[in-house]
Amino acid sequence: MIKTIGLITGGGDAPGLNAVIRAVVKTAVSEYGLRVVGIEDSFEGLLGQTRTRLLEPADVRGLLPRGGTILGTRNRGRFVDRLEGGEEKPREVYEEAAANLRRLGIDGLVVLGGEGSLGIAVEFDRMGVPVIGVPKTIDNDLACTELTFGFVTALDIATEALDRLHTTAASHDRVMVLEVMGRHTGWIALHSGIAGGADVILMPEIPFSMQSVADKVAERERCDSQFSIIVAAEGACEAGGREFYQDTGDRQHAPRLGGIGNHVAHEIERITGKESRCVVLGHLQRGGTPNAFDRMLATNYGSCAVHALMRGEHGRMVALHAADIITVPLTKAIANVKTVALDSQLIRTARDVGISFGAPDEARYHGQEAC
Ligand code: F6P
Repeated sequence: MIKTIGLITGGGDAPGLNAVIRAVVKTAVSEYGLRVVGIEDSFEGLLGQTRTRLLEPADVRGLLPRGGTILGTRNRGRFVDRLEGGEEKPREVYEEAAANLRRLGIDGLVVLGGEGSLGIAVEFDRMGVPVIGVPKTIDNDLACTELTFGFVTALDIATEALDRLHTTAASHDRVMVLEVMGRHTGWIALHSGIAGGADVILMPEIPFSMQSVADKVAERERCDSQFSIIVAAEGACEAGGREFYQDTGDRQHAPRLGGIGNHVAHEIERITGKESRCVVLGHLQRGGTPNAFDRMLATNYGSCAVHALMRGEHGRMVALHAADIITVPLTKAIANVKTVALDSQLIRTARDVGISFGAPDEARYHGQEAC
């Protein structure tokens, strides 16, 4: 019988973390009379002296609009050792954390995380601590769920940025490149590109040719549009090329992507002669208040996670499916990154409204009468 739930926020922050915390605490206390212990700084708070705090309904007042996570997520990467490109889970670290969970009387965990943190959570479930995951990441790249919380807010921010870039691009007859997040996937780039009226969307799922991007800019000039807007996911790369990184990472941290936007701006200016600029949206996509949709989704996820745990489910993740919340195996959710399907309606719609993906064979998707 579960009496005390441990609550962990792992990985990069995403708008809506605090809304999930609030829903977990309210549901756990009012529906089941449980204790909820917040674990600080992700799984790190379970090591050494441990850093935890009891969360009561009064502690979660006013949290719906608050960005970040009140529990912190300063992950030092001690639960995953990235040895020569591989990933190893250091046994002694997990055993220390599990012993501390027992000492704290925590008999179930709700873990808010993306693929990395949920991968750590799976290990605890295997060690006998029941775990329910909550899908968090602005990248929306977790499998088995239609949406992760935080994504739609990031999308709003990227779309507003594109709106703003339109007016400055048009005033100066420039090419503006917006680099958005999306490590392995183009969800933010694709959705914001359509919503924000981009001319070119570059995403990891469709390797691009710089010439094809330049052709699109030139085609717009012929059709009397002297400016162009390009949105590039940080993980996008040229056909036969490589991803751009800010650093190479180390044993405890994954390499950090970044730089594709500047590269594209530079190359487009070189090829077309048009003045080009790049804006890297970066962590503005993650910080600040969640939008209404993410508050609602986060609340729904948090409440359903507690019910799932109390039904005796474990090793599962709450997920959005056809407007309902279901649970799916955690191992399935983290097995593969959810990429954008190239035959999806959204890709076809983007092409229908004249958006180019800069694919080397892009011309085949568009007739000559583009004007
Ligand atoms: O996973 C979300 C994400 O926003 C990625 O798109 C990005 O590459 C990464 O986090 C950056 O995280 P941080 O700067 O915290 O290492």
